[in-house]
Amino acid sequence: MNSFSSVLLAALMMVGSSTDALSLAVPKKVIVSGAGGQTGQSLFRQMLAIPDEFQPLGLVRSEESKAALIESGDIPEDSVVVVDVTDADAVKAMTTGKDIDAFCICTSAKPAPTGETDEATGRPVFGFPNGDPEIVDYMGQKNQIDACPKGTHVVICSTMGGTDPDQMLNSLGRVVNEDGTTSGGNIVKWKRTAEVYLMDQKDLSYTIVHPGGLVNEPGSEREIVVGVDDSQDGTESRSIPREDVASVMLNAVRYPAKYAARSFDIRAKPVGDGTPTTNFELLLDTLDGKNSDYSLGETMLQK
Ligand SMILES: NC(=O)c1ccc[n+]([C@@H]2O[C@H](COP(=O)([O-])OP(=O)(O)OC[C@H]3O[C@@H](n4cnc5c(N)ncnc54)[C@H](OP(=O)(O)O)[C@@H]3O)[C@@H](O)[C@H]2O)c1
Repeated sequence: MNSFSSVLLAALMMVGSSTDALSLAVPKKVIVSGAGGQTGQSLFRQMLAIPDEFQPLGLVRSEESKAALIESGDIPEDSVVVVDVTDADAVKAMTTGKDIDAFCICTSAKPAPTGETDEATGRPVFGFPNGDPEIVDYMGQKNQIDACPKGTHVVICSTMGGTDPDQMLNSLGRVVNEDGTTSGGNIVKWKRTAEVYLMDQKDLSYTIVHPGGLVNEPGSEREIVVGVDDSQDGTESRSIPREDVASVMLNAVRYPAKYAARSFDIRAKPVGDGTPTTNFELLLDTLDGKNSDYSLGETMLQK
């Protein structure tokens, strides 16, 4: 190689490397909804801790949720926005004209005891004081999906249990009317309905995460087991720390080539059983391309 060629080669290599450095230096703009909630807050905090990679905006339901989040510490006030996701216009106004790489949905209706007791079973009756699943888990998620600009990667924190229409969680908040019909409840089915809606949006990409039972224990200490269709293969554990769920969601945004167009379950082995997961880029490889099968279970729109 003559000296001119080697100078040219060196210059081209410099251009190449500076372009890479430039692309690496642009943090992804991410909206995290449910940012005052447990999993959402963990994800929001994990992203805030890596400003070179992520520029998250946390969406919370009310001024009270915002105040509690700010008071909990280390959250810049201007990184939090108050939007009720059941208000389609408000969600749309928040995203209009914004450059968004990813939208992570961690909102959910929350069951709470109503104070009544079921006469037949003697068990406490549950309701959804802050909005029924149809409103929060279906319409609220649909509003968020509809507000995403073309090309946005939408990552949903949903739940396992979707293959079983009789899943116990569906009965929470469900009431039998005088004419024998039912209303309210069906939280898992409404979540699954929103998932199918997202997958139908050709201008967006998606990752749908179905965690097992959520526990508030430290993350990064367990081996995460991925699966599909509520399989119990790989571990007897049916749970996973919220921090680990948040890490999977963060890495879905980080590695879109690996996580886009994927829907899967996650659980975690007990601490000390297996090797704590560190390579999230390869996490889904054991699925051999399998995704959740939506012909199983029920959505509310099939009824
Ligand atoms: N609990 C489990 O064992 C389990 C298992 C598997 C999957 N999951 C699912 O995993 C997800 C995360 O669960 P989590 O327990 O970490 O959640 P969480 O703490 O209950 O957080 C839910 C968040 O949604 C927000 N929210 C509710 N309605 C809203 C609205 N209209 N507008 C804006 N924000 C709204 C809540 O805000 P406010 O607090 O201000 O109301 C809260 O911050 C949920 O989808 C849950 O169903 C749970």
